[in-house]
Amino acid sequence: MAKTRDTVLNTFLTTAVLCIVCSVFVSASAVGLKSRQELNKQLDKKKNILSVCQIDFSNGDVQSIYDENIQAYLVDLQTGFYAEQTPDSKQTAAKFDLSKLADSEFKTLTEDPAGLGGRRENFEVIYVFQKGNQLVLPIRGKGLWSTLWGFLSLDANDFTTRGITFYAHGETPGLGGEVDSDAFKNQWMEENATLDKDGKVIIEVSKAGQAVEGEIDGLAGATITTQGVDKLIKYWLGPDGFGPFLVGNTKKFQAVAKNERSVVGLISGLQD
Ligand SMILES: Cc1cc2nc3c(=O)[nH]c(=O)nc-3n(C[C@H](O)[C@H](O)[C@H](O)COP(=O)(O)O)c2cc1C
Repeated sequence: MAKTRDTVLNTFLTTAVLCIVCSVFVSASAVGLKSRQELNKQLDKKKNILSVCQIDFSNGDVQSIYDENIQAYLVDLQTGFYAEQTPDSKQTAAKFDLSKLADSEFKTLTEDPAGLGGRRENFEVIYVFQKGNQLVLPIRGKGLWSTLWGFLSLDANDFTTRGITFYAHGETPGLGGEVDSDAFKNQWMEENATLDKDGKVIIEVSKAGQAVEGEIDGLAGATITTQGVDKLIKYWLGPDGFGPFLVGNTKKFQAVAKNERSVVGLISGLQD
C-alpha cells in the first residue's frame, strides 16, 4: 500500500518552505526596488517644488525642467548664511537628507510650537527659482493627526507669499486634508505679506470664515489643522526658522549690493 503524504510533518515542511520562498522574494523585491523608490521620492519632491513655483511640468521631463529652473542652497539656520556642507554628516544641498543629519546638527527646542518633536535641524535646503524671483522654503509641523510636510514659496524681494504645497500629511480627507486643496492653496498665491519691515512675522492663518484682508482663510471643520498650519508657518518664518536667513539677507543686501552670500543679492545681481 502506498505511503500517505498527508502527514503533520509534511504540512509543517510545506508551510516552512513556502514561508522561506515568499520571504526571500519579498526581501529581494524590497532591496531591489529601494533605489527606485528613493528616486521616485526625490522626483515627487521636485514636482512639488516646481508646482509651488507654478512651473508647468505636465508636458516634459520633470528632472530636466527642474534642473533648468531650480537651484538648491544649503542654509545654516542659526547664522542665516549659506553653508557648503553640514559639519558632521558632510551633507550638501545637492544630497541632503534630514534623516541622515548627525545628532550634533540639531538644536534642542525649549518651546516647540510647530510640534517638531523637541528638536530642529541646524541646516536646511532652500530652493531658488530665479526666473520667477521666488524662494522656496521647506516647512513642516503638526496638524491634528499628523506632521504636515510642505513647501512655501515667497517672492525673493519682499517675501510675500507666492504659493504653498503640502506633499505629505495624514489629516482627514475632506477636513484637515483640504490643506492640499486648490481652494486653500490658491490663497497663498495672492502675495500676502509675511514679514514687516523689522522682520517680524505678520502672516495669519485664521479660523475658517474669519479671515480679514491679507489673512489666509482656514479650513472649515478643521480648526486644529488650521492652527497647526498657522503655527508652523509662523515658526519657519520666525527667528528660530528661516528668519535669520530672510531678515539677515535683506539687511545685508541693502547694505552691500550683490553680496554673493545672499540669495536676494544673487537673484537681483543676476537680473541686473
Ligand atoms: C473623524 C473625524 C476626523 C476629524 N479630522 C479632523 C482633521 O483632520 N483636522 C481637524 O482640524 N479637525 C478634525 N476633526 C474635528 C476636530 O475633532 C475638531 O472638532 C475640529 O478641529 C474643530 O474645528 P471646528 O471648530 O472648525 O469644527 C475631525 C473630527 C472627526 C470626528
